[in-house]
Amino acid sequence: MSQAPALETFAFERSHDIVIEAPAAVVFDYVTNPQSWPEWIAVSHRVESADRPLVRGETFREQWFSRHEVQLDWIVLEADWPRRWVAETHAAFLGPIVIRYDFETLPGGECRFRRTVGNPARPKAPSDEVVARIDAEAATALGNIKARVERGYAARAAARREAIATAMADIHGLVGTGAPDRHDLSKVRERLVELASRSDLFPRGDLPPPLPGSGGRSILYRLAEDEDHGFALYANASLGGYGTPAHNHTTWAVIAGVHGSELNRFYDRSEDGGVAQRGEFEVVAGRGVAFMPDDLHSIHIDAPLLNFHLYGRGLEQLDRREYYEADSRQWRVFPAHSDIRDARSGRA
Ligand SMILES: [Fe+2]
Repeated sequence: MSQAPALETFAFERSHDIVIEAPAAVVFDYVTNPQSWPEWIAVSHRVESADRPLVRGETFREQWFSRHEVQLDWIVLEADWPRRWVAETHAAFLGPIVIRYDFETLPGGECRFRRTVGNPARPKAPSDEVVARIDAEAATALGNIKARVERGYAARAAARREAIATAMADIHGLVGTGAPDRHDLSKVRERLVELASRSDLFPRGDLPPPLPGSGGRSILYRLAEDEDHGFALYANASLGGYGTPAHNHTTWAVIAGVHGSELNRFYDRSEDGGVAQRGEFEVVAGRGVAFMPDDLHSIHIDAPLLNFHLYGRGLEQLDRREYYEADSRQWRVFPAHSDIRDARSGRA
């Protein structure tokens, strides 16, 4: 009886990286949508998958061509937005193929994207010629990703600036020069909901929430504000797990949903000096709420979201906003907000 020859295999891995002038989240959301692959890598002919970034456990199919057409069935092993994404497939001629994408946020806010392709059990070691071809293909692919992501990001920023400027001009017209009443504010709410409906201009990556584990739960991006600090529009990007006590604003305020859900609870001042809830409302895409300066609300955010908060005056100027501290049954004053990122140039 003859002995089968030992099956010796070779582990091979190759990494390539490139710096892209866009937030890591934008790069992540582009390359982890496998529908993008045929746009930037020549060997990827067609992909059947959901047209969005895929999460752990999702599968997709790729028509791939090297010497002949091959069908690859992939599974996503890891999706740690916006830092790392790993997927695996199996090819008869190569054994397992693992691709890993790493996204590093650089000090200037740009992203270093690293793509690593591994063949942990190749039937034989690749020749120098094959390695040189892999490097050349990767350089082309990464250059394509950089060009497409940067072009899309800059075009969105310009379109966003224009849409915001038009909406704010309309809102100025609706409010006029005096203090708006509830009827005026309902019109402002409708206009802000209309701006929020342009979700293509406000993808989660362009105005990202804090990195998970960084300590913060929300970031406020300033999208517009008059020179005298009137008509201040912010995007609130939250990871969720965030809420506020009941509070007023000391100016008019309007909220509209872009992605995700923010529960608003409404209150009256009660006879014993506290608050009594009188209703609640989920702010999601297509809906908004408006408040007069003395109206009371609290917000409650469970999951990641992006929404708009528009105030009659900028948050840095609002140093008399009261909130009700339930534990001590006391009204206190919010310090004026100071940690706001300027996104008016279009780049957060
Ligand atoms: Fe509020």
